[in-house]
Amino acid sequence: MRKYLLVVLTAIALIGVGHAGKKEFKYVGVKACKSCHSSKSRGNQYGIWLKVPHHNAYKVLATPEAKETARKMGVTGDPQKSPKCLKCHTTAYGVDKKYIASTFKIEDGVQCEACHGPGSAYKKYSVMKKLYQGKLNPADYGLVMPTEKTCKRCHNEECANYKTFNFEEFYKKIAHPIPKKG
Ligand code: HEC
Ligand code: HEC
Ligand code: HEC
Ligand code: HEC
Repeated sequence: MRKYLLVVLTAIALIGVGHAGKKEFKYVGVKACKSCHSSKSRGNQYGIWLKVPHHNAYKVLATPEAKETARKMGVTGDPQKSPKCLKCHTTAYGVDKKYIASTFKIEDGVQCEACHGPGSAYKKYSVMKKLYQGKLNPADYGLVMPTEKTCKRCHNEECANYKTFNFEEFYKKIAHPIPKKG
């Protein structure tokens, strides 16, 4: 009898976790996108990201220029440890550790998920395909299709190195479209 009860309770607990887990998306890191998004036929989004400054945003905080920027902003100590810099120069800063998967690396700077949202649920092939075809609701899987507003979270006057942000102009420099199939 006790054993039976335990089984039932465990089952309830598991269902509970599974249910709650559905909306708890984790940040998995850029390497988890690389496997599918580095092929030429899909548009090589990973390769494009490697060529734009976003991939280097954390590493740049270790340069003499970053020390100078920090000084101008009145920030003391190591910029790679300061929340005042990390919040824009990394991905998922300030997010509870339970939403960060072990594959995630802070060193990869402003990664896919900084703009597209935590990928643990949407990175599955069948899900991605259906999202792309408009058969699933992106929000149910944590997927964000970024807009100008997404960029301005980081592209604003707060950084002493801020350059006037023009969406059209800046977007052209990072664009990574899926090629249209003929
Ligand atoms: C298992 C393969 C796979 C992985 C892993 C994967 N994707 Fe995708 N992704 C796809 C496929 C397939 C499509 C649909 C387009 C296509 O067929 O090329 C797609 C489409 C997308 C789209 C366009 C969605 C839309 O509605 O237009 C975005 C954005 C995207 N992926 C981001 C990511 C990010 C960010 C990651 C990592 C967190 C990731 N993907 C991981 C396979 C994958
Ligand atoms: C509000 C978001 C934000 C904060 C906070 C922020 N940065 Fe930045 N930082 C940016 C953006 C965006 C750029 C790219 C320049 C641009 O286009 O405005 C940048 C550029 C830089 C650059 C120049 C990079 C290069 O390749 O030339 C350095 C260095 C830098 N930031 C250091 C820092 C340091 C140090 C701190 C903390 C004291 C900091 N930033 C805080 C958003 C931010
Ligand atoms: C700085 C923000 C940013 C980062 C970082 C970023 N993206 Fe995007 N991504 C966008 C924007 C903006 C769009 C266009 C959204 C739209 O068309 O509505 C987009 C669109 C896409 C699309 C759909 C393209 C199409 O033609 O439909 C895919 C796939 C994609 N991103 C994958 C990735 C992957 C994989 C990474 C990381 C290697 C990544 N993105 C990193 C901002 C970003
Ligand atoms: C999480 C913060 C963050 C978000 C969101 C973000 N960026 Fe950035 N962006 C940065 C940082 C930090 C840099 C500077 C990195 C470096 O130089 O090492 C940068 C640099 C750039 C650069 C290079 C600027 C230059 O002067 O060469 C472009 C272009 C750019 N971002 C476009 C965009 C666009 C377009 C979006 C929105 C679709 C976007 N970014 C969203 C943080 C962000």
